[in-house]
Amino acid sequence: MIRIAALGGSLRAGSVSAQALRACAARARGAGAQVTVVAGRDLVLPLYDPDGGIRTAEESRLLATLRAADGVLLASPTYHGGMSGLMKNVLDHAEDLAHDTPAYLDGRAVGCITVAWNEVAGASALAGMRASVQALRAWAAPMGVVVGADATFDLRDGEGYGTDPRTARRLDILTDQVLDFARMRAGHTTSVPAPPPLEPAI
Ligand SMILES: Cc1cc2nc3c(=O)[nH]c(=O)nc-3n(C[C@H](O)[C@H](O)[C@H](O)COP(=O)(O)O)c2cc1C
Repeated sequence: MIRIAALGGSLRAGSVSAQALRACAARARGAGAQVTVVAGRDLVLPLYDPDGGIRTAEESRLLATLRAADGVLLASPTYHGGMSGLMKNVLDHAEDLAHDTPAYLDGRAVGCITVAWNEVAGASALAGMRASVQALRAWAAPMGVVVGADATFDLRDGEGYGTDPRTARRLDILTDQVLDFARMRAGHTTSVPAPPPLEPAI
């Protein structure tokens, strides 16, 4: 069974980015994936400290979720034209995977979603998020989605199903792309040894 890490949302009650994330998580579960959702307050971590040493339980849980994932879904509100600080701090924590094999998020597809009132701001936040994901050596899924801040989702058992058909369709395509890539990864065994780590990690 493929494993998907779904990370996102904001600290706001009724967070639209959390609802969009849960809609994607529900689709992934429906397709047979094991999905771990870490949303909203569960993403509140100390500011990433490269010299941090021992990580908190929350940091360790997040890192374990990322390490285990065959694919990742990310959803962030747009704050001043970029991803939220909450999401950036989560991605900064992936620095702790620098010396893993594979390093960072190498070999994983990551689907990126932003939520914004202004689609231009949402698009620039999405571009920044995809750039960060690529810096982490992941494959940004071809589909990225900017969800309108006024989007509505039907909630069923805590999971969301998009009601705006165009937004729902895009979220479905994004989720399916991450799932397809994750299945390919899970079924693939590489015969090429990983290159030795560089110091500092790049
Ligand atoms: C600090 C802050 C900055 C924001 N900056 C922008 C922005 O630059 N452009 C925009 O369209 N919306 C902006 N918004 C609105 C949010 O993107 C929007 O309310 C979104 O729905 C928040 O996501 P959430 O529902 O998951 O909390 C901002 C909101 C906050 C709180």
